[in-house]
Amino acid sequence: TTIYLKDYRPPEYLIDRVDLTFELGEEETRVRSVLQIRENPAAEVSGVLRLHGEQLELIALSLDGRPLQATEYQVDDEGLTIQQMPAQCILESDVRILPQKNTALEGLYKSGTMFCTQCEAEGFRKITWFLDRPDVMSRFTTTIRADRIRYPVLLSNGNPLNEIQTDDGMHQITWEDPFPKPAYLFALVAGDLRSIEASHTTPSGRDVALKIYVEPENIDKCDHAMASLKHAMAWDERCYGREYDLDIYMVVAVNDFNMGAMENKGLNIFNSKYVLASPETATDRDFQGIESVIAHEYFHNWTGNRITCRDWFQLSLKEGLTVFRDQEFSADMGSRGVKRIEDVRLLRAHQFAEDASPMAHPVRPDSYMEINNFYTVTVYEKGAEVVRMQANLLGSDLYRKGTDLYFERFDGQAVTTDDFVQCMAEVSGRDFSQFKRWYSQAGTPELKISSDFQPEQQRYTLTVAQHCPATPGQPDKAAFLIPFAVGLLDKNGNEMPLQLQGEAEAITGTRMLEVSERRQQFTFIGINERPVPALLRGFSAPVKVQYDYSDEELMFLMAAEPDGFCRWDAAQTLAQRILLKRVATPDAEIPAGFVEAFRKALTDRESDQALLAEVLTLPSESYLGDQMKEVDVEGIHRSRESLKRHLALTLKDELLSLYHDNYSADGYAPDAVSIGRRSLRNLALSYLIQLDDPAVLQLCIDQFRAGQNMTDVLAALSLVADKDVPEAEQLLEQFYQQWKNDPLVMDKWFTLQALANRPDTLSRVENLMKHPAFSLANPNKVRSLIGAFCSGNAVGFHAADGSGYQFLGDRVLELDGMNPQVASRMVRIMARWQRYDKQRQQMMKAQLERILKTEGISRDVFEIASKSLEQ
Ligand code: ARG
Ligand code: ZN
Repeated sequence: TTIYLKDYRPPEYLIDRVDLTFELGEEETRVRSVLQIRENPAAEVSGVLRLHGEQLELIALSLDGRPLQATEYQVDDEGLTIQQMPAQCILESDVRILPQKNTALEGLYKSGTMFCTQCEAEGFRKITWFLDRPDVMSRFTTTIRADRIRYPVLLSNGNPLNEIQTDDGMHQITWEDPFPKPAYLFALVAGDLRSIEASHTTPSGRDVALKIYVEPENIDKCDHAMASLKHAMAWDERCYGREYDLDIYMVVAVNDFNMGAMENKGLNIFNSKYVLASPETATDRDFQGIESVIAHEYFHNWTGNRITCRDWFQLSLKEGLTVFRDQEFSADMGSRGVKRIEDVRLLRAHQFAEDASPMAHPVRPDSYMEINNFYTVTVYEKGAEVVRMQANLLGSDLYRKGTDLYFERFDGQAVTTDDFVQCMAEVSGRDFSQFKRWYSQAGTPELKISSDFQPEQQRYTLTVAQHCPATPGQPDKAAFLIPFAVGLLDKNGNEMPLQLQGEAEAITGTRMLEVSERRQQFTFIGINERPVPALLRGFSAPVKVQYDYSDEELMFLMAAEPDGFCRWDAAQTLAQRILLKRVATPDAEIPAGFVEAFRKALTDRESDQALLAEVLTLPSESYLGDQMKEVDVEGIHRSRESLKRHLALTLKDELLSLYHDNYSADGYAPDAVSIGRRSLRNLALSYLIQLDDPAVLQLCIDQFRAGQNMTDVLAALSLVADKDVPEAEQLLEQFYQQWKNDPLVMDKWFTLQALANRPDTLSRVENLMKHPAFSLANPNKVRSLIGAFCSGNAVGFHAADGSGYQFLGDRVLELDGMNPQVASRMVRIMARWQRYDKQRQQMMKAQLERILKTEGISRDVFEIASKSLEQ
């Protein structure tokens, strides 16, 4: 069944207080709950209470102290109904649940020896009966009883009260959370954990104890997460005026986790991938990922917890805003220009692709079958762009006024994306009704731009036409309001003064044009030479821009454009042009100017090295595929490899000196400058390896053996693993022996082999599934082996015989019985079947149909597979 936004009704009942008692056992867990329930004065009340609850075994149920008779309530697969509800009452229940058998990792489950929870979006109903919807906010008290030896650490939300030891080897502790919260923010952890502790003092003088809990063997890998947390707290105080509100902030790392992390009030639970790091075991990317996810979950305390979502259609209210906040935080911590490029690359690669697929949906969806399927790049990353556009339109001062108003007005409430936009409208006095289409219309708008220079009038006109392709259920789109940042460069690469016709003065630098019509003209006056336009500076809106640049203009922008994003984008556009031309015509000429532009970048020792690494990275195979009418998997791969080889042959000396010049004997530090040097150096190596030169192979082997840090070790190993040389096996084995007891490093080992560019990769992946270090029950393992192969190894996965599709179909069915959320992420890979040739389409569709025909598949997988097949 499908749930619609238009059917939203406020809850008939509210639950003011929840008192929970958990008795954690090795066979079963008992959950006793005491709910203070009353009618919602703001709703029409029917007298019937319907509570959510799944997989709960009822032991006892009573209302105001009186046990309920079997005739007074009904239990079914999805909940509990009580017919004759008083206007207010105390409802007590006692249920049995089986966390040890919970492989879906939703609700209360075990990860290794530890108990933990994941309640967002609708997991609390697998713990006890409740109004499991975000607009019901309650004050929670939680008592946990468990074995003292096995579970010395017992955690829940809020502040700890008293601990009691009992004679039977058990102990118990009670936690009280003073802030009303929806059930999805509930959390519980129990285990034999160690912690590191630090403290932070807020501007208003509150001393907050910061604790990170991990399994004992990981205690020395928490420092980076702790440093990131402190930075995030200070940043939110400075940039948004938000400070923390409890005396204790806890982060727990668990190995089995469906997503990245979860912002439970005062008790964040994290996939260990986003907590644990040491230079020997984590790459630069891992360090950056930890910094941003730690910050993301911390920022949720205000954007998500203090102010939460009215219903799950509003998910982007908290996720889009919080991603925007974490993006800006990371930009401030590292290299701003590079961060923007990374975010745009992710958006274009995944969100644009989603928007062009049968799974396209608006940032605020209007219907869903399974909400877990809507934790998407559209809700998160496009949602962040939609907040960023509001900041762009308002400017930083007004945007800050807008968020201040939002926090003041809605603290403690469950609200909508409209409520957020309303604050931006009020502080700016602007009308945001057209802007709101970004929340309701799916699809990526395309801007077709043309320019006209009239020398005699000294005028330059940009004509902008917008169009948004149809998406499921939305054949026609109304025009968007698009902040479109442009600059004009003169022939020396200087910014020209920008003065629109009818304006009194010129400005220098970037001009934020506002495109609101389907077709619109912007005429600049006082322009005395034909400029080169720099379009969509800073990627000011999530749109595609089409403008007929000449190759020369692109090379000019690559060299002269001050905006990092536009500079990178010019390089990408030019490379894409050449690459796609050579897909069709393999020996089409590579313009000498392009190689020269590359040479210039390679020998540039002035610019930000990390930015150069971005400029020198060719567009990915999957992104190139998205630009074709029909993806030519083999052709794209060949074209990209041969361009790399050409560049390596022509620029060998430059690449080698780049490699050597960026060597550093210093200890590891994950700062922006060192990260930039490492990425540039490893990029040089990835070009050089194309030469099939034994000396380059030796460089890789030496870099691997030097073992300075995981970034360099992994970069070297992945290049060697692609080669058909004996060292490939030797190094993989050596790496395995060294790291077999570290699950996160093993994930990398699996991924490396899944991505290997070799003819037998699928059979190797199948064998690796039997490897003792692999487990289908662990989502990180599934993602690093199966996910990496199916979404990161295009040539292997899209093999013409359909073996990759068959493999994925098998895995989806196998996984679905254990963990529907993970199965559903995997089946999504096939949602893009229309993009391939007829034979591949048939084979992918056949897998989707086979999955749909299988008895008992989850709602999660059903929704994706069925929508993928809808035309
Ligand atoms: N709110 C979490 C975050 O973005 C994501 C948790 C979603 N989990 C899920 N199973 N749908 O920080
Ligand atoms: Zn989030």
